[in-house]
Amino acid sequence: MTTASDPRPRRTFAVISHPDAGKSTLTEALALHAHVISEAGAVHGKAGRRGTVSDWMEMERARGISITSAALQFDYRDHVVNLVDTPGHSDFSEDTYRVLSAVDSAVMLVDAAKGLEPQTLKLFQVCAHRGIPVITVINKWDRPGLDALELMDEIEKEIGLKPTPLTWPVGQSGDFHGVLDRRSGQFIHFTRTAGGAKRAPERQLSADEAEAVAGEAWAAALEGHELLAMDGADHDQEQFLAGRTTPVLFASALQNFGVAQLLEILLELAPPPSATPAVDGSLRAVDDEFSAFVFKVQSGMDAAHRDRLAYARVCSGVFQRGMVVQHGETGKPFATKYAQAVFGRERTVVETALPGDIVGLVNASALRVGDTIYEGRAVQYPPIASFAPEHFMSVRAADTGRYKQFRRGIEQMDQEGVVQVLRSDLRGDQSPVLAAVGPMQFEVVTARMESEYKAVIKLERLDFQLAMLTDLPGSQVLSGVRGVEVMRRSDGAWLALFPDKWRAHTAARDNPDIFLEALPASG
Ligand code: G4P
Repeated sequence: MTTASDPRPRRTFAVISHPDAGKSTLTEALALHAHVISEAGAVHGKAGRRGTVSDWMEMERARGISITSAALQFDYRDHVVNLVDTPGHSDFSEDTYRVLSAVDSAVMLVDAAKGLEPQTLKLFQVCAHRGIPVITVINKWDRPGLDALELMDEIEKEIGLKPTPLTWPVGQSGDFHGVLDRRSGQFIHFTRTAGGAKRAPERQLSADEAEAVAGEAWAAALEGHELLAMDGADHDQEQFLAGRTTPVLFASALQNFGVAQLLEILLELAPPPSATPAVDGSLRAVDDEFSAFVFKVQSGMDAAHRDRLAYARVCSGVFQRGMVVQHGETGKPFATKYAQAVFGRERTVVETALPGDIVGLVNASALRVGDTIYEGRAVQYPPIASFAPEHFMSVRAADTGRYKQFRRGIEQMDQEGVVQVLRSDLRGDQSPVLAAVGPMQFEVVTARMESEYKAVIKLERLDFQLAMLTDLPGSQVLSGVRGVEVMRRSDGAWLALFPDKWRAHTAARDNPDIFLEALPASG
């Protein structure tokens, strides 16, 4: 763990990928390389593997997917690396989007056989929007897949970043001998281990040695490298940080190939934490007084401890456990006696944390997603945008005798951002509407309401697909339009719900004076 005088630089990143691209496997491999764990498989909780951490909910365990987000911190060389975990399933994308507000860079993990997939593209858009530099890792090179140059073309076409490979595979996908380090000209030769469980030994070989070991595959790699060089596909740090290029690595997370290089590249090229823009446009420098913002709130992680955790990213200064900070939104002091680093089930007490680090604040019932905490000079960070919901359900307590618990639970789900909660006079307080980006959020709500609040809920699907922001006069006019329902979100915003985009267009066309605005698709 860090100390107040810890001068070690930070790297805080997340992996963005489509489900099944190998994110969990890569996380394990990274942890393995950093000696956090001694055998791959200790991080990930999938059936058949030695699960430890990310399977805190029954449902999650049953489905083998990761619902929660937390951070894995480890030391690598003279750095501290924070890997902020992102939920893998597409239905949990809202959470994933928020996580991206807490990182300085992202690793885009691409399955060599599938190329860029929808969820990866969506998440990439969020990175692009936020100006987060992206390092690309082509994974599963040990399995037959697409041609390396084809993949580069696809990346350039689909996301508009120029790929600048730092390594180039020696051997086609499915015949992975290692990689050509394009900057040193050396051959990094991999040796397979049984199941990739142990750290795979890598040997650095000169070009002459490579010729002898890999023969034609080496010659083909050299040819590929020259083609790339002619195309100007060489790394340029400024272009990378400006979000115009993406360095590319080739790997097999399962075999632990290319993972050490990824760590090295993160240390060398990924940006360290920098000044954070505040709502008033000013910048809070990393060495200013302490400040952080909450990017995730979660409760009921552990059946034995019904606690509530607020995850905050430190933006400036030094966090010290026990310090009393100001809560920007209420102006009230907030004691940080209980601070933890959380990765799934594993928790350790955090004594100090520096910019880029993630702390889990326990029993932080006052803190909501997007809130700012600080010491000394006041600062307010901008709220984390909520996303355009596409699924809507009306909800009520199955047992009216448990209405109080029902109300408390729904309020909690709202505060955590599990779903957005909408209300109207028409529907009354007993039956609000839940809005979500993905339908699985409703299952999460159902499961948690039952297990944490002992409140069984009844959900009814509503025939809406689209919500648009409106204002008070607009809400009055639109309430009369057929097929449209206007509701109030808990943050006070008025939302007009439409069955489809055509109806929304018609409503806007027929009422040109009404304020109607699309909700942001990404923050
Ligand atoms: P995710 O978190 O992105 O959803 O993916 P995960 O790591 O669970 O990997 C999905 C599948 O892809 C797993 O196989 C995993 O073993 C495999 N995989 C990941 N990286 C590589 C790689 O570099 N090479 C090869 N060949 N396979 C890889 P599975 O059979 O679905 O699951 P499991 O039974 O292995 O857990």
